Amino acid sequence: MEVSVDTIREFDDNKLIELIQCDDEDFEPIRIEADKVRRANYGTDVFLRGLIEFTNYCRNDCYYCGIRCSNKNANRYRLSKEEMLNACKEGYKLGYRTFVLQGGEDLFYTDDKICDIVSSIRSGYEDCAITLSIGERSYSSYKAYYEAGANRFLLRHETADEKHYSMLHPDAMSLNNRKECLFNLKNIGYQVGSGFMVGSPYQTIHNIVSDLRFLQELEPDMIGIGPYITHRDTPFNRFDNGSVKLTLRLISILRLLFPYALIPSTTALGTLSPTGREDGLKAGANVVMPNLTPVKYREKYEIYENKICTGEEAAECRGCLERRIERAGYKAVTSRGDVKK
Ligand code: SAM
Ligand code: FES
Repeated sequence: MEVSVDTIREFDDNKLIELIQCDDEDFEPIRIEADKVRRANYGTDVFLRGLIEFTNYCRNDCYYCGIRCSNKNANRYRLSKEEMLNACKEGYKLGYRTFVLQGGEDLFYTDDKICDIVSSIRSGYEDCAITLSIGERSYSSYKAYYEAGANRFLLRHETADEKHYSMLHPDAMSLNNRKECLFNLKNIGYQVGSGFMVGSPYQTIHNIVSDLRFLQELEPDMIGIGPYITHRDTPFNRFDNGSVKLTLRLISILRLLFPYALIPSTTALGTLSPTGREDGLKAGANVVMPNLTPVKYREKYEIYENKICTGEEAAECRGCLERRIERAGYKAVTSRGDVKK
């Protein structure tokens, strides 16, 4: 199959399905093309994002997630503002110029608290990007965080199919609201990231095509995908994990559909395969997100089982990732890594 940045945009749904499901030897040239496109846009640069998982409290009850509110076995924690600022300080020393504040939907962190934290980071680190990943909030809240100094926001749509969405989430959550949040964020001026889980329970190949179509409509700056990984304390604990191979294929397809995108090689990929993150980079990803959360909290942010990198200090993580990136043939860089659109 002849696949390039120009041809893939014209593919109808059947052709996309054929591409996703083709034989391994037919897919290898596509991976190589994706790598070429990534090199043409970003060279061998791999951007580092220091990830601070600042709370595992969550008001939501997503059926797939280990920190869902009804998991009574989750050992809950929250970071203080000082702990977050210390994590940024450590990250800055390690060369990180993006801080990602991620957490469950925890309303303990009111708008005022988030704005206070964001503006303190902003005034200490003017040259850094601040990314939030704190779920669904109102337009006015998002605007306040932006005005306090946040630049980017990660909010995966999870699945773009209404019916599938309702199989993964309780009735209180809606795909429409999530989509509206994404368009609001874009409208306010954030660099926006979205994405989905690969192999989540009940996902069909048609759902995946809907995900790609939704991303084409949204045109996000960042696209995060990772395999679904099961967690013992969720209603989905009997489901299999998602496929690493399919995730890697979709990274290549995303790179061809969105040549400019910032695409992370996710921790979930590294959790299911020892070379998962290296393979993600070779498939077209150009971002990694080393963990900056204080080690004593790491294991508690257990969204899925056997999550890697929970025991390493930030500096060890930095060294380990740099070696992995180099082994894969790329270079870890310390620039902010804004989108090149
Ligand atoms: N609360 C924020 C939100 O909703 O965007 C951010 C935190 S949430 C835990 C971050 C991401 O983890 C979700 O967007 C979801 O795709 C992913 N995730 C949750 N449970 C997962 C699982 N069991 N396997 C793989 N990824 C999972
Ligand atoms: Fe964290 Fe390897 S990336 S220890």
